[in-house]
Amino acid sequence: MKKIEIVNKTKESFLTRRKIQKIVELVLREEGKDLSGCLSIAVVDKEEIRSLKKRFFHQDVYTDVISFFYGFSDEDDVWGEIIICPAVIKEEARSRGEREEQALSIVLIHGLLHLLGYEDEDSEKAKVMEERQEALYQLGEEEEEREKLIQKAKEVRARAYAPYSNFLVGAALLGYNGNIFTGCNVENASFGLTICAERGAVAKALSQGVKEFKKIAIIADSSSYCFPCGACRQVLYEFAPQLEVIAAKSDIDYEVVSLRSLLPQAFSLKNDRKE
Ligand code: THU
Repeated sequence: MKKIEIVNKTKESFLTRRKIQKIVELVLREEGKDLSGCLSIAVVDKEEIRSLKKRFFHQDVYTDVISFFYGFSDEDDVWGEIIICPAVIKEEARSRGEREEQALSIVLIHGLLHLLGYEDEDSEKAKVMEERQEALYQLGEEEEEREKLIQKAKEVRARAYAPYSNFLVGAALLGYNGNIFTGCNVENASFGLTICAERGAVAKALSQGVKEFKKIAIIADSSSYCFPCGACRQVLYEFAPQLEVIAAKSDIDYEVVSLRSLLPQAFSLKNDRKE
């Protein structure tokens, strides 16, 4: 957990502490920086950021973010400071028809990249920086999506009916329409009738008219990752050969693999059919 000091000097809402923490950790990790010390984030109003921009950069403009890099040294030192103005960012987002939260996240990533040495004073460098900040934002969104699915899988795992194996499993399947379908394992005294969590989720989705899927998260009550059994791999393949499979131990400890890698040379009647 990186140390971050956040001071909001305005009445304007910014990103939540959790979201800021996630973004900072993602950027440092993806940029290969494992910094100790403290990052300071000050949320300021338009006039304050304007006067800072004037004082330090000799430009009389309202800007969205300013970063100061102080250098890495001892444990508790502040290594960098980001001064960010949500009012300016939100105005720009509104005028471009973008989501405010997305714009705030991207500007925070932009400020962090400046601290890590990225520059944008010429168009070539600005392009590199812009592409990097977009890619990092998308990666962050992807992680949020995965962690939300794991959370749903964990919730439904509590409803597993597994008196024979005591192995509780929860699965959450993300449809292309954005809906999430959950399932838990349902056992039977006649053991072979057991329905796995994944197949429960597939049946629920199909019965509600959704049969295209992006991702599935699976979590068991176990210290190891729970990958789908062979039968479930085949059932998932029927609807989503491109599926991403997230095998989780906890909200933050998970492995991501493709269904194709779990079921190479999968059986499909479609391959044999004369179209
Ligand atoms: N199980 C699942 O629900 N999903 C899997 O991918 C593996 C196994 C269930 C079936 C059974 O109720 C219990 O786990 C032990 O096999």
